[in-house]
Amino acid sequence: MGSSGSAVPSANYSTPLAASPAKRRSGGHGGWEERSDALRRLGRRVKPFEHFGALGLFVLTAALVFLLLLRLVHSDYYGVAGLAWESGPAVGGGGGCDWFDGEWVWDEGYPLYESVDCPFLDEGFRCSENGRPDRMYTKWRWQPAGCDLPRFDPKKMLEKLRNRRLVFVGDSIGRNQWESLLCMLSVAVSNKSSIYEVNGSPITKHMGFLVFNFSDYNCTVEYYRAPFLVLQSRAPAGVPKKVKTTLKLDILDWTSNRWKDADILVFNTGHWWNYEKTIRGGCYFQEGGQVKMEMSVNTAYQRSIQTLFEWIRKEVNRSKTQVIFRTYAPVHFRSGDWKTGGNCHLETLPDLGPRLSLKPWSHFLRPLRNVPLENSTATKVLELDLLNVTQMTARRKDGHLSLFYLGKLGPSPLHRQDCSHWCLPGVPDTWNELLYALFMRSEFMRLQNVTVIGNTRVKLSE
Ligand SMILES: *[C@@H]1O[C@H](CO)[C@@H](O)[C@H](O)[C@H]1NC(C)=O
Ligand SMILES: *[C@@H]1O[C@H](CO)[C@@H](O)[C@H](O)[C@H]1NC(C)=O
Ligand SMILES: *[C@@H]1O[C@H](CO)[C@@H](O)[C@H](O)[C@H]1NC(C)=O
Ligand SMILES: *[C@@H]1O[C@H](CO)[C@@H](O)[C@H](O)[C@H]1NC(C)=O
Ligand SMILES: *[C@@H]1O[C@H](CO)[C@@H](O)[C@H](O)[C@H]1NC(C)=O
Ligand SMILES: *[C@@H]1O[C@H](CO)[C@@H](O)[C@H](O)[C@H]1NC(C)=O
Ligand SMILES: *[C@@H]1O[C@H](CO)[C@@H](O)[C@H](O)[C@H]1NC(C)=O
Repeated sequence: MGSSGSAVPSANYSTPLAASPAKRRSGGHGGWEERSDALRRLGRRVKPFEHFGALGLFVLTAALVFLLLLRLVHSDYYGVAGLAWESGPAVGGGGGCDWFDGEWVWDEGYPLYESVDCPFLDEGFRCSENGRPDRMYTKWRWQPAGCDLPRFDPKKMLEKLRNRRLVFVGDSIGRNQWESLLCMLSVAVSNKSSIYEVNGSPITKHMGFLVFNFSDYNCTVEYYRAPFLVLQSRAPAGVPKKVKTTLKLDILDWTSNRWKDADILVFNTGHWWNYEKTIRGGCYFQEGGQVKMEMSVNTAYQRSIQTLFEWIRKEVNRSKTQVIFRTYAPVHFRSGDWKTGGNCHLETLPDLGPRLSLKPWSHFLRPLRNVPLENSTATKVLELDLLNVTQMTARRKDGHLSLFYLGKLGPSPLHRQDCSHWCLPGVPDTWNELLYALFMRSEFMRLQNVTVIGNTRVKLSE
């Protein structure tokens, strides 16, 4: 494959990578590293959506009215239909309904929380508090085409999480989602001081991992920073000088022994798998003792995902742990990328048109394709739950931080926008509503003594 072709920048790029894991882990960079992460993040350009002319606006208005009406009808049976799956196993994914195929509908009942009421958010995600003037981006609910999602019930989720661990592993977009879930769950807890980081680490500090205890429930919701999932370390001796670090494609990140006994594991990766954040900064790929000087970023990504799947198969107790993989969350830089003045600050509406092509991200999605139910001679097949957010997220060009990630410093300059991370409340809340649905379904099956079967069968490499 042309690998990371679209990711290769043309302009010069001199900011060094966050090189060694030790350095990344040391904290103390404050919010800045996270911030500059965002700035350094490579823009993957989405075709500008040009079809909103005057006619577009008219159609949009009509659509809004229609959707509003739909919602009135919908809300009548929402509570009941949304929970219908609790009385039968043929649910979302099964039963002919794909939770991830649907549309964004306007809903005055949203957002599910306000950032001012949530002490667990990085300053950088608080768009509204940081001066973003519009609020529309907080008002969209995801509506699956064939059924309703269960209504997110934080108390119920916390009850089910009692004495358990929910762990997110991945890049800072995963952190974005983790913080969203902290806020969504904390709505059900009146004494916010009873929710705390177990090592006393502040959320704004950039730490290798953060563990929040909902102490009334003895439940922890944790985040481990591992943007590549696999292990990054110093280059072995005797390799060319330009090799500064390597990604060991056959070994998972050093923190993996802390994740593997989690009750729910949510992975994501992708935003660091590009030329800029690897080879350009002297980070090459290694398998066994060998540094593969010629290996493309895309090949390396595919290998690392296979390593993850092998690890899940060998190391994770699947009768205890629900494993979820969240798919790539598209970025929306228009007219450039993060460093060439790409922007998204004028986007105030989702893309409500037809489904978008997933082609720009197909290399990220490739290892997650369904394996058809074939002759079970297919030896190595892994079941896992896919949090398949790529399509729905591709349509949310309006949800990014854009200029509003600098906290009290005010809006950023127009040419330094963040069209990768998401305002909170916002789009990651929806990912968590879907996470809730996957979790509740898995719990349901556990109680019924049904083998926990994922949405997706993924073929493992030999
Ligand atoms: C993910 O969802 C999209 C949109 O519904 C769909 O086209 C795609 O096939 C799904 N992928 C998998 C692996 O289920
Ligand atoms: C709290 O939960 C952990 C598992 O996450 C468990 O090992 C421990 O025994 C629990 N503590 C109490 C007091 O129930
Ligand atoms: C809130 O929680 C903290 C920490 O658990 C505790 O010290 C405090 O007494 C609680 N406050 C109330 C009003 O319950
Ligand atoms: C979370 O809080 C509970 C209740 O105070 C406590 O028993 C447990 O040890 C705490 N868990 C961690 C990991 O600190
Ligand atoms: C796997 O988890 C189940 C459920 O918690 C437990 O009963 C079983 O002993 C575990 N198996 C291993 C090998 O640890
Ligand atoms: C399995 O595959 C063989 C040949 O590929 C085919 O003839 C047979 O019908 C298949 N069996 C099932 C159950 O699909
Ligand atoms: C599930 O299995 C457990 C232990 O084997 C049993 O106690 C329970 O009644 C079973 N539940 C159902 C719904 O079959």
